[in-house]
Amino acid sequence: MSIAAGNAGPLLGRDAEIGLLASLLDGIADSGGALVLSGEPGIGKSRLLAVAAEFARERGLMVLSTTGVQSEAHLAFAGLHQLLRPLRFHVADLPAARRARRGLRAEPGTGAGAIPDRDGRSRPAR
Ligand SMILES: Nc1ncnc2c1ncn2[C@@H]1O[C@H](COP(=O)(O)OP(=O)(O)OP(=O)(O)O)[C@@H](O)[C@H]1O
Ligand SMILES: [Mg+2]
Repeated sequence: MSIAAGNAGPLLGRDAEIGLLASLLDGIADSGGALVLSGEPGIGKSRLLAVAAEFARERGLMVLSTTGVQSEAHLAFAGLHQLLRPLRFHVADLPAARRARRGLRAEPGTGAGAIPDRDGRSRPAR
């Protein structure tokens, strides 16, 4: 199988990985799931992530992404916060029990909610 992503040309020799991504996404509404993609620099991780995102959108799923930033390494949950930030206006749509979770209420720059640092102390949300 070869799958083109943008102008990058066909993705070669990744049938097994592509099949795994497809089967994970096919069952995700029922069982959820997680997958860690790791490998040597340049081995094709970003290409496979692009395929995963494409498959997810084809299945009507929302795709969110986040990137680790070294300067935020000391901030607990900084990546998670970045990941969920686009959803902050939908918190009211969640069931009350989930809405009550502190991390989801935290809004950068508003002082609403707080994010614990690595020592467990709370600091205002960014
Ligand atoms: N299976 C493949 N078939 C064709 N091209 C590939 C394949 N895997 C990777 N490439 C190409 O190799 C280059 C590096 O791929 P990619 O950026 O996905 O690697 P990466 O693992 O994310 O690298 P990094 O660790 O630097 O983030 C890209 O030009 C990509 O198109
Ligand atoms: Mg990459």
